[in-house]
Amino acid sequence: MAQFVPVDTFDLVIFGGTGDLSQRKLLPALFHRDRDGQFTPESRIVALSRGEMTNEAFIKLVRGALETYLDEDKFEPEVWDRFSKRLHYITLDITTPDGWKSLARLLEPESNRCRVFYLALIPALFGETAKQLSEHGLINEGSRIVLEKPVGSDRDSAREINDGVGRFFNERQIYRIDHYLGKETVQNLSALRFANALLEPLWNRTHIDHVQITVSEHIGTGNRAQFYDRTGALRDMVQNHMLQLLCLVAMEPPLSMHHDELRNEKIKVLRALRPITPKNVARATVRGQYKQGAVDGQAVPGYADELGAESNTETFVAIRADVDNWRWQGTPFYLRTGKRLPEKTSEIVIQFRSIAHSIFEEREDGIEPNRLVIRLQPDEGVRLSMVTKEPGPGGFTLRSLPLNLSFNETYELGYPDAYERLLMEVLRGNPALFMRRDEVDAAWSWIDKIRNAWDSTGMAPLLYSAGTWGPTASAVLIDRDDRSWYQDGS
Ligand code: BG6
Repeated sequence: MAQFVPVDTFDLVIFGGTGDLSQRKLLPALFHRDRDGQFTPESRIVALSRGEMTNEAFIKLVRGALETYLDEDKFEPEVWDRFSKRLHYITLDITTPDGWKSLARLLEPESNRCRVFYLALIPALFGETAKQLSEHGLINEGSRIVLEKPVGSDRDSAREINDGVGRFFNERQIYRIDHYLGKETVQNLSALRFANALLEPLWNRTHIDHVQITVSEHIGTGNRAQFYDRTGALRDMVQNHMLQLLCLVAMEPPLSMHHDELRNEKIKVLRALRPITPKNVARATVRGQYKQGAVDGQAVPGYADELGAESNTETFVAIRADVDNWRWQGTPFYLRTGKRLPEKTSEIVIQFRSIAHSIFEEREDGIEPNRLVIRLQPDEGVRLSMVTKEPGPGGFTLRSLPLNLSFNETYELGYPDAYERLLMEVLRGNPALFMRRDEVDAAWSWIDKIRNAWDSTGMAPLLYSAGTWGPTASAVLIDRDDRSWYQDGS
């Protein structure tokens, strides 16, 4: 059974407390943790938003959200009784003083508590919010500020945001969310690499041919199309989630799991990424955009139809990334992500090299090299393909079979949502699962070069039918290196 260690009494203040993220993710996550008894009776959750609303109306709204977003059996009336008493609502417009005064009145008497400000707001408001918090005397030694992604849309805008917040909070108090780092299976990557003697000696260019990281979604952009159109897959998924996964696979073993040791290693990987320039962008990347097609047997519209306009924004990207250091020289990392692909899956494929020499009749290129597939979602687990002898009296036939470890089957406990873990880490004051400023900076520097190369070479997205694995150019990108994308069962 998992151990649930209670956290110290806190005041968690959510800016954008009635918004989608708050209703869909943050409040259900907090409810779950309360259900497991991790909160002291005095801990409070304060939601802020511009809309006029009474406390009662807000509590009703939260109840509705929990009933919608929690599994039916998770909404327990006794827990709700306890949880609803923690909820406070304050009408607050960042630019006018009234709400700030009410917030100060509520928080002041408990000035020694751990105080967390969660900014579920557009990034343009991060700096101003931090300034107002400071001007109203609400920041104390134990305060923390949580920034939702995206932190900027390029390196310069990210710097501006980080400077704006950094004037009032020191780096140790700033928690930049990448929800992938809160996923249980993503954390398992560290356990897999550093708690097993078996893998680390093989984890390098000598034994690994290449790595593939795929994060595919079957959903389209739907009602987020307007936001998405200013963002695109490169900024929305690669700059953060995909690069974080790449870092966790490629980094050197940190001295410990201490937050700075971990992040020091990740940043070295980001700095070692070979720049993609106008010269190699057409070979190293593929941009795609879905057109109409069928997903799960249902006809779906194209991206431009959803948006209501022609657009040059990519909903798919594939990249060959090279990490220029001793460990990975000559072992490429292929990244691919997109919307309206055939399925929702996130997985990392570690493709080992072929055996050095075959003693069997089969030539060594006829013997399937070992492959480790780390499935992050769904059906979380690890599968290692091993070559075995097929039973039978005559001949010696080799066959690759999987050693399959399913976390779902092994641990009966359902997986907590990433936000549960991340919120608890903020309350405990552990920033290991959050992005440090220099990481954000380094990730944007690499991404900006790709964007600039696309712009300067006029590389437009190629259309792909919804429900397929992106433009054929994506298969060509990897095929050019005599490799192919892994599909389950391939
Ligand atoms: C978000 C992106 O960060 O991650 C979304 O903005 C994407 O576009 C989502 O759908 C995917 O997250 P998950 O946890 O569903 O894989």
